[in-house]
Amino acid sequence: MANVTVIGAQWGDEGKGKLVDWLSNRADVVVRFQGGHNAGHTLVVGDQVYKLSLLPSGVVQGKLSVIGNGVVVDPWHLLEEIAKIGAQGITITPDLLVLADNACLILPLHRDLDQAREAAATNKIGTTGRGIGPAYEDKVGRRAIRVADLADREALEAKIDRLLAHHAPLRRGLGLPEADGAALLAELERMAPLILPFAKPAWLLLGELVKSGKRVLFEGAQGALLDVDHGTYPYVTSSNTVAGQAAAGSGLGPKGPGYVLGIVKAYTTRVGEGPFPTELTDEVGQHLGTIGKEFGTVTGRSRRCGWFDAALVRQSVALNGISGIALTKLDVLDGLATLQICTGYRLKTAEGGDQDFSYLPAGLKAQSQLSPVYEEMEGWSETTQGARSWRDLPANAVKYVRRIEELIGAPVALLSTSPQRDDTILMRDPFQD
Ligand code: GDP
Ligand code: IMO
Ligand code: MG
Repeated sequence: MANVTVIGAQWGDEGKGKLVDWLSNRADVVVRFQGGHNAGHTLVVGDQVYKLSLLPSGVVQGKLSVIGNGVVVDPWHLLEEIAKIGAQGITITPDLLVLADNACLILPLHRDLDQAREAAATNKIGTTGRGIGPAYEDKVGRRAIRVADLADREALEAKIDRLLAHHAPLRRGLGLPEADGAALLAELERMAPLILPFAKPAWLLLGELVKSGKRVLFEGAQGALLDVDHGTYPYVTSSNTVAGQAAAGSGLGPKGPGYVLGIVKAYTTRVGEGPFPTELTDEVGQHLGTIGKEFGTVTGRSRRCGWFDAALVRQSVALNGISGIALTKLDVLDGLATLQICTGYRLKTAEGGDQDFSYLPAGLKAQSQLSPVYEEMEGWSETTQGARSWRDLPANAVKYVRRIEELIGAPVALLSTSPQRDDTILMRDPFQD
């Protein structure tokens, strides 16, 4: 199989960036297909730490990188990120980075709206505050400004007028000052010559690359349970995060995604609000957060931590058509005497009985009220940190991994044992499978 799609199989932050970086030397081009700079992907190579939000993680290995049409792009942030990574020795030129000319822009007024809504809400989503939701709303509402519009001043002016007419009552309702259309136009005109050199019909380029036998690595952002259709709605992001979106968000067609590699953390985390059946608010949860360094890359917020939820990942395997998984952060479980794995859920019915679920039901009330059904496993006292061979793993760690494979119905293709690029065990090569 030629192409590989990396997606998050839980609530994000599974280690997608590390795995995309590791896999990118086997690929010819790396493509982001949804989300925006709400993502935070961390790559560690020796003593260098790279934090990417909008740039595909392939840039670090010098691979051709594409920001696809499904991504919402904050052009100011893009330039900042290019400058930041430039200071780390990675020069981003239009030969290395392609920006889909039909991608929609995130503007300051989207960030204003995102932050003002969150501040005013009694039931906060806990968004990253970067304007992602409002930008996707304008895209679907057919009033967004797209990358290609930067090349056409007249059209841009008319589009800004139309957009501002929509935003004016929203801003008034939230107590925000009126947006300045002339200032926005001037600012976008200033950005145009800086952004347009990267703009191309990405769908055409990718199609040609695939025809000539090149291999594409798709880089998902967020995770399946944050998908706007399949996730814990409304506590989700505003894009489809599942593997199927790799086709629509790049323009490569439904055969594009190829082998789907689900990135799965050996326990569970979530940042922001929303249901989380296996969440641990005790000292074990704190231990996972401390040892796993579970702080958000984008917002610095503490991530909520809990036991591995096999029911949730089994659902994710189905939703994404996962071919195999990369299991990450196994080392964080080192030293825990016992481990719990959630195999399903139980809900108290109105009649006082029990209803069992093998999946997370769609209703928010049910999602918030169900309790996990656990299976206990023995932990291990040895260290797995930095292990580079399957043979180096303690017997109980091997048992834990094998049990996960059985419960989720997908094989482990890769195993990650530290943040470092090379602390990665390859069991089967997704590009060869
Ligand atoms: P992403 O959003 O899926 O790319 O994940 P993040 O980068 O937001 O969060 C994952 C964090 O775990 C990062 O700080 C990584 O450096 C780190 N990490 C990745 N794999 C491993 C691993 O196997 N073990 C440990 N201890 N840390 C890891
Ligand atoms: P990566 O790619 C974890 C969460 C936010 C919030 C919800 C909606 O690093 O895995 P948004 O700003 O998208 O409207 O916020 O989604 N969220 C993430 N959580 N990892 C991410 O990305 C996330 N991107 C968004 O915390 O709960
Ligand atoms: Mg992240």
